[in-house]
Amino acid sequence: MPDDFLPIQGTDHIEFYVGNAKQSALFYQYAFGYKLIAYAGPETGTKDRASYVLQQGKIRLVLTSSLREDTPIAEHVKKHGDGVKVLALWVEDARSAYTETTMRGAAGVQEPQVLQDKHGEVVVASIQTYGETIHTFVERKNYNGPFLPGFIEKKSPVRTEPIGLKYIDHCVGNVGWGEMNTWVEFYEKVMGFSLLVTFDDKDISTDYTALMSKVVSNGNGYIKFPINEPAEGKKKSQIEEYIDFYNGPGVQHIAIATDDILHTVSELRQRGVEFLHVPGNYYDDLFDRVGKIDEDLEPLKTLNILVDRDDEGYLLQIFTKPIQDRPTVFYEIIQRKGAKSFGKGNFKALFEAIEREQELRGNL
Ligand code: FE2
Repeated sequence: MPDDFLPIQGTDHIEFYVGNAKQSALFYQYAFGYKLIAYAGPETGTKDRASYVLQQGKIRLVLTSSLREDTPIAEHVKKHGDGVKVLALWVEDARSAYTETTMRGAAGVQEPQVLQDKHGEVVVASIQTYGETIHTFVERKNYNGPFLPGFIEKKSPVRTEPIGLKYIDHCVGNVGWGEMNTWVEFYEKVMGFSLLVTFDDKDISTDYTALMSKVVSNGNGYIKFPINEPAEGKKKSQIEEYIDFYNGPGVQHIAIATDDILHTVSELRQRGVEFLHVPGNYYDDLFDRVGKIDEDLEPLKTLNILVDRDDEGYLLQIFTKPIQDRPTVFYEIIQRKGAKSFGKGNFKALFEAIEREQELRGNL
């Protein structure tokens, strides 16, 4: 796209601010099969925090904890609980990304900064997005270290087996009442994204709750950000519950692509990852709804994997329960077989499953 003022090569990494990064790093290794690759902390000269970098496929997660009481990291965790602070985007030119977006109205968080060590240099710059979430542009073409300058290579004695997690398919943000269009416009005007699809409250409602969602995508389609806002229903929607417990807008879920969802999900289940439960009758007329697919019914039903079809093919997906005690961030595991959509046919079954969880938590 020659007229793309913000070319993005992919998701560089996702950074979580968490209460105890040392323990979270083990969770991601044991439960999700990530490999520890790098570390920064007091031993490496970073005095106020500890950060662990985990990798599987093209996915890089950074888990960061504050070592002190009065830091922005500690404030973030106090307010939001464990959550996503940074959606970092891999760019060819971080200075240009910063200039082009701030020129169009983005609030700057960090001006372009050159980080250096013996492995070369990285240019980073950050802008604000919804809530307290930020986008960091990462230009790493002149760098060959394990992660970023300041991090050392770190191996773990934990023997992890990758479970087929390949790349970030999309990252979803929850925003407040009436704010969805503001943020869609932000991605369109400030970042040059385009609107991919709109779901109104008729598409996404059950007997009790509703929400609205619009999906924006960058020029090459590598980055897809659905943005949700609550809609009026008889009861409290999952988006309101999220915003109550996160204390504002933030990342709701991260969808990770696999090319063998049966294997990935059976591994995750054995390792203790909990998933939303959709009742068995979802499968009664599955093939009538989605037509012929490569997978057998039984393993899909046993693992509780959902299927949906669009004009271009089908997709298989499943959603975890929240991965921390607050009912906030969760994961989606998705396998695309041609379909480029988001599983609209599963919304109702899914949201009813979430309502059952909300009910158990006393938040419906
Ligand atoms: Fe999703």
